[in-house]
Amino acid sequence: MKKKYMIVGNWKMNKLIEESLGFIKKLAPEITDCDVDVLLAVPFTSIHPTSKAAEKTKIIIGAQNMNDARKGAFTGEIAGIMLEEAGAEFVILGHSERRQIFHETNDFINKKVERALQDDLMPILCIGETKEEKDKNKTEEVLKKQIKECLDKISKEDVENIKIAYEPIWAIGTGETATVVYAEKIHKFIREYLKQLFGKKCADNIYILYGGSVTPENVSILLKQKDIDGVLVGGASLDLESFLEIIKNSVGV
Ligand code: PGA
Repeated sequence: MKKKYMIVGNWKMNKLIEESLGFIKKLAPEITDCDVDVLLAVPFTSIHPTSKAAEKTKIIIGAQNMNDARKGAFTGEIAGIMLEEAGAEFVILGHSERRQIFHETNDFINKKVERALQDDLMPILCIGETKEEKDKNKTEEVLKKQIKECLDKISKEDVENIKIAYEPIWAIGTGETATVVYAEKIHKFIREYLKQLFGKKCADNIYILYGGSVTPENVSILLKQKDIDGVLVGGASLDLESFLEIIKNSVGV
């Protein structure tokens, strides 16, 4: 049986508090009957006010990054317990922008995953290959390494609480979505590899989301694929109309 779909918006470094609140206020009443999970990863400054505004709605608020330490002398960083206190329920980890622009390694991301689980935040772990890696037929090798290293020392029980987001880097913000055939092939590969590492039950239960130029037009065909359990949406989640359409187009697929 297919899982309940998960639609995650990633606002990245966009929207001030007032705009965030206006968005939640308009979105919430439109989706009360939609049988999908709706999550929004907002900027740090909006976590507290939006999580308050999202109480008693379907919307779940989360963060886009955190540090691996519980606390300490890490100027400019933010701890999981701070996000949790502010009202975040999940955190995106290892997004390709963090990996590429801020040089985050699999080892660092692994420590963040461990910390997020300890701090009761659901991690959404992002993995994905570059265009160059894809062209050199290295996609599977790269993904295996990311999965193995980012999930190192994580128990079977904990792995089921993690969501994996497969985001081919060449498809992020480019308008170039992976073809559904390609996306499903890779999702299947990821599930098979998770099965090798953590067993069948875990591989069956774990959510694997697709991200990279998801739009209202392509969301239903993506979700129709057997191994795609949801989507991580960047650009199209910033606009209320398009995010709402993505949610509506996910219902009943
Ligand atoms: P995009 O971004 O939907 O704008 O391609 C996806 C993401 O970066 O998570």
